[in-house]
Amino acid sequence: MIINNIELNGFRNYIAGSCSFDPGVNVITGSNAQGKTNLLEAVYYLTGARSFKTRSATDVINAGSETGSVRAGIISGGREQFIDIYLSRSERKKIFVNGVKMKNAWSLSGRFCCVLFCPDDLELIKGGAAERRRFADLAISQLRPKYAEILAAFNKHLEDKAKILRDFRDRPDMLDVLDEFSLNMAKYGADIIRYRAAWCARAAEAAFTVHRDISGKNEQLRMQYRTVSTIADPLKLSRAEILDRLLEHQESHRRAELESGQCLSGVHKDDILITVNGLPAAKFASQGQIRTAALAMKLAEREICFDELGEYPVLLLDDVLSELDPVRQEYVLNCISGGQVLISCCSGEEILERTGGRIIRIREGKFV
Ligand SMILES: Nc1ncnc2c1ncn2[C@@H]1O[C@H](COP(=O)(O)OP(=O)(O)O)[C@@H](O)[C@H]1O
Ligand SMILES: [Mg+2]
Repeated sequence: MIINNIELNGFRNYIAGSCSFDPGVNVITGSNAQGKTNLLEAVYYLTGARSFKTRSATDVINAGSETGSVRAGIISGGREQFIDIYLSRSERKKIFVNGVKMKNAWSLSGRFCCVLFCPDDLELIKGGAAERRRFADLAISQLRPKYAEILAAFNKHLEDKAKILRDFRDRPDMLDVLDEFSLNMAKYGADIIRYRAAWCARAAEAAFTVHRDISGKNEQLRMQYRTVSTIADPLKLSRAEILDRLLEHQESHRRAELESGQCLSGVHKDDILITVNGLPAAKFASQGQIRTAALAMKLAEREICFDELGEYPVLLLDDVLSELDPVRQEYVLNCISGGQVLISCCSGEEILERTGGRIIRIREGKFV
């Protein structure tokens, strides 16, 4: 997959501007706070009209504008395609692919994929379960429109159930629909578990190999998907069995949920356990091991995308190359030969000497 060009209007600190990309290496340079990360965010936005920085749809619109847009020409599936996303503070976003209006953002899944590597990725290892769920969810959503849709439906039900558990003391009639929401959450949850378990198994395999290569063959990275305690190995269960066990787990937490006013049972608590040489990485890994593990997980995401679509996703490296030691830098730069890459850094001449490609200079939200 390749992005040929992008046009930004009222997106973050870009008032109006466009640039074109090299099919190989692109180095995005500029001083701090000029718009390098914003440009990568805009490219990532084309994968599913979602930001990697914020959940709020309007945050990405320029602070002084009512509307914004990201428009781009890409090559995917062997042909040139056009993605136009229009954002507004007062209306739903509108998405067009090759001039045809899409029903929702999930229609973009599988069309244009990116893998982002940024300094915050260390949180993938050190941070809470939410970070790892988000990683898996975004990766699966890019490939599977259905998953994004199911996840959105689950989250809507979760929100509503949380509201019931919070407010039922003042409005006991709300309890009438509690079981219905729980059941629906379990139904969507069963599908989500199947997608996540399958994806994690593939990611674990790919990450293991990448990690072994980077760390010099003496370290073993494992990723294990963890869901509710009544389900040990979801890959060995049918959907009906998974649903039964989710309901069983829900039932056993029913009282605690009512007492605490919180939603305690469900796939919104899932996690991925990451270990290096058998020890939980969050607790025991060194700074260097954490960096390598996070990098391996991201490059695993890239491999899965390639297996699935036959094309490498666009690799976005936000301010990370300079922080990697020479071995890891070399490994990442070698990956580049397989696809397009956008690298942001303060000065990129040195990288381009090694790889060739284009330099894109940015100042105050403008391409210079
Ligand atoms: N919605 C927005 N509207 C206007 N400016 C924004 C918006 N969001 C972020 N910015 C500005 O973008 C700049 C940061 O851009 P960023 O791409 O993170 O910089 P860097 O080049 O360091 O990666 C900051 O000056 C910030 O104020
Ligand atoms: Mg930045």
